[in-house]
Amino acid sequence: MTMRLGALRADYLSGLRTYLEDESEAGLAHAYELGRRAMIDGLGLLDMAALQRAALDTLVLPATSNDRPRFMEASTAFFNEVLAPFELSIEGYRAALSASEERFQLAVSGAMAGLWDWNPQTDEIYFSPHFKRIMGYEDNELPNERHAHFDAIDTRDFERVTALLKSHLEHRQTYDVQYRVRTKSGDLRWVHSRGQAQWNEAGVPYRMVGWILDINDRKFDEEALRTSREEMRRLSAHILRVREEEKARIARELHDDLGQQLTALKMATSMLEHGGRADRPWPPQGALNGMYTMIDDLVESIRHIAADLHPVMLDDLGLIPAIDHLIDEFSGRYRIRVIRHIDPDAIAFNRECRIGMFRMVQEALTNVARHSGATEVVLDIVRADPHCIVRIVDNGRGAPTDKPKGRHSFGLLGMRERAALLGGEIRISTEPGAGFALTAILPLASIEAKDTS
Ligand SMILES: Nc1ncnc2c1ncn2[C@@H]1O[C@H](COP(=O)(O)OP(=O)(O)O)[C@@H](O)[C@H]1O
Ligand SMILES: [Mg+2]
Repeated sequence: MTMRLGALRADYLSGLRTYLEDESEAGLAHAYELGRRAMIDGLGLLDMAALQRAALDTLVLPATSNDRPRFMEASTAFFNEVLAPFELSIEGYRAALSASEERFQLAVSGAMAGLWDWNPQTDEIYFSPHFKRIMGYEDNELPNERHAHFDAIDTRDFERVTALLKSHLEHRQTYDVQYRVRTKSGDLRWVHSRGQAQWNEAGVPYRMVGWILDINDRKFDEEALRTSREEMRRLSAHILRVREEEKARIARELHDDLGQQLTALKMATSMLEHGGRADRPWPPQGALNGMYTMIDDLVESIRHIAADLHPVMLDDLGLIPAIDHLIDEFSGRYRIRVIRHIDPDAIAFNRECRIGMFRMVQEALTNVARHSGATEVVLDIVRADPHCIVRIVDNGRGAPTDKPKGRHSFGLLGMRERAALLGGEIRISTEPGAGFALTAILPLASIEAKDTS
């Protein structure tokens, strides 16, 4: 640079000297050319000022007082020509800049981003009106202070955000982060923020510009998806566990119940075989009666175990009689009255929906027995085109609406899954002390659809 500046200075002086003598157009053209070359060589306006200063010192000041005013004017004209290329390029640069800035603004407002522009040295910050709107504020309601935003960052995300910011400023790592902010109304919203700092030659960041986007809806969808995936995983793990427990239970029942009864029957048979006495009628009626009872018990046990595995009635008699039977057993066992509003002929339940609906009612009644302390249940199964509505309402103690689902509560989850399989949904309405109402809303289209096989 100094070499070039040196060469240029000689040119500048000789060019100006000529121009002071003849003030020709060619002299001005030469000046313009000088400026253009200087600019291409990467020299700046300050370098040009220094050249002009040196020229004044050597050519203008030493002149006679007669010549000096004219020289002064001529050298200024010369200097203006030297500067002209710089001015043009700044003009062009400014135009390009404003065009690109407009484009940027457009892109930004199109994408609904909020802008921020921060000076890490002075801590001055600018938030665009849309930035403030994302945070729920009018333009004049949120001060242009860093803390106005930083204090709103959710405590769970704060450290992550500040650490990223620090490593961007110090190590130039990308600043691209998603976090929750508390808006004016107190709600939490997810935002996505990106920023880029500028560093001076000493490596000190003097400016950082970025945007934030409101990604709350997207984040919400993602979260719902994640939760439901997690629930599905837990549900299938639970199903596997339940299946194993079921097998163990059936094995135990077969062994304890049927095994013992069969052993008793075998002993009775063997007594018949070996216990014959001449003075008594044979076979003895009492022993036979005992054996008949044992066989009846056996049959009953087998029926019970089988009915637990799959309610045979569902297939033989249909959904409503099976539910009627379930309710009779339930009322008998728990002393809870069940009022039924069921029109048995209103809906032609197909085979595929039966087991699902049966299990939903069964689980709801089990919950009533386990959790409600109720004395009365109302069960509706009604047609409300285009839906079938199943409602189970008890007068028990209810539950807090926002009670977090326990990690091991699979009853309601299972019901939701069953309803979803039928294209429907489950709604719950409850409050402590106000009973528990569970409603399954199921599209008739899938409930009455013709069975596929
Ligand atoms: N009829 C009801 N009355 C009061 N609380 C209920 C009733 N049904 C369900 N709940 C509440 O909902 C929770 C979840 O039920 P559920 O998913 O079936 O799991 P579980 O029965 O294994 O606890 C129960 O733990 C209980 O707190
Ligand atoms: Mg349950």
